[in-house]
Amino acid sequence: MSEKATLNVEGKEYELPIITGTENEKALDISKLRGSSGIVTLDRGYKNTGATTSAITFLDGERGILRYRGYPIEQLAEKSTFLEVAYLLIYGELPSVQKLEDFRNKISEHTMIHEDMKKFFDGFPSNSHPMGQLSCLVGALSAFYPESLNPDATEEEENLNIIRLLAKMPTIVSWIHKKSLGHPVMYPKNDLNYVHNFLNMTFGQITEETEIDPVIINAMHKLLILHAEHEQNCSTSTVRIVGSADTNLYASVSAGISALWGPLHGGANQAVIEMLESIKNDGGDVSKYVEKAKDRNDPFRLMGFGHRVYKNFDPRAKILKEACHEILDKLGIKDPTLDIAMQLEQVALDDEYFIERKLYPNVDFYSGIIYRALGFASEEFTVLFALGRLPGWIAQWKEMHDNKEPIGRPRQIYVGETEREYVDIENR
Ligand code: ACO
Repeated sequence: MSEKATLNVEGKEYELPIITGTENEKALDISKLRGSSGIVTLDRGYKNTGATTSAITFLDGERGILRYRGYPIEQLAEKSTFLEVAYLLIYGELPSVQKLEDFRNKISEHTMIHEDMKKFFDGFPSNSHPMGQLSCLVGALSAFYPESLNPDATEEEENLNIIRLLAKMPTIVSWIHKKSLGHPVMYPKNDLNYVHNFLNMTFGQITEETEIDPVIINAMHKLLILHAEHEQNCSTSTVRIVGSADTNLYASVSAGISALWGPLHGGANQAVIEMLESIKNDGGDVSKYVEKAKDRNDPFRLMGFGHRVYKNFDPRAKILKEACHEILDKLGIKDPTLDIAMQLEQVALDDEYFIERKLYPNVDFYSGIIYRALGFASEEFTVLFALGRLPGWIAQWKEMHDNKEPIGRPRQIYVGETEREYVDIENR
């Protein structure tokens, strides 16, 4: 028997179905409430609103659990590769050896980007932010592949769009890097695996045989896996809501990239390293910055701290903290910002303000330090986040599209003027 809740509003009762997820999460289905009562619900920032049902990611913020398609993030980060995780997220199961090989082969057929797209790079000012370039270039793929505009594409056609996007993203990201240096771009080497190929296009030199340290390759796999999916966050919800209008995959993901850019979301990784740098340059007094973060009259926040859903710890931050020390050790890098980060973490974790509000380091707190050790500039950090998040966005777009979900259209509570007469300009 399906469960129901009763809502009493001004003496009238309304029955609301209770939906139970596979992890026993309960939700009230209010989708018919407006029709029966005229009442809408208000939830600024969707803090407690389920926008959809989804079979991709399970996240329990109280217990610090994150699973992709049921597999714990800790196991995937330790044992899997980025491409395997991408397959898992998009198609729902871990691939067999053959399926993974086919997936890899299909991707390697599409890694080149149209030569005309190179002209975009010439058009961007040399100091333009990589995220602005990325959202533009990914959106532009829809112009190069007009068949992607068909919302009624067959499964095979839809899959080709997915493969193209996965294949071209590393090429685009590495070209943004090369252009920022004024260096010639590198073309894909399709005998290399996905992540190695990306690093080769990013750090390789046309005139020299380039070897990429396996420590860097492994670190990159881990970072990308940890960023690959995170259910209905700001950028993913953006991808779904844009895609719900039957907008093509490239334009929907481009919108997600723009959402990710903000410093309260994916842009936090750049903001963290800039914050750590300025604390260091200001003499390294971390408690001064903790005090600033606590001061209601000061807009300063500790970047890389706090999370909308993790109210215990961010399991990704836990993995990255360990990985950060290991990678810096292996690469023989001494980074004073890591010492500042450690001190800041300790001071904040012992402070009543942070304890009370359940503010812990999030995934972005450590990722920037690793990206920098690997050789990326701070402005590129969010682009790397986008590269990692791509399979998650694709999986969510596909799920929404395959389930034929309705167009996203929230309600509002109007609080403006009631009707009034137009006043001629000379009488105002
Ligand atoms: N530093 C200081 N105080 C903070 C911080 C912080 N980083 N984060 C939250 N708080 C305080 C708020 O001032 C508020 O205090 P109050 O109750 O006294 O008013 C309380 O904690 C709750 O904060 P909200 O902003 O209401 O929490 P919300 O869930 O809306 O925000 C967010 C979450 C945006 C991540 C926030 O914690 C933040 O701005 N963090 C810094 C930016 C950051 O690291 N973003 C990356 C998130 S991870 C990701 O997107 C990949």
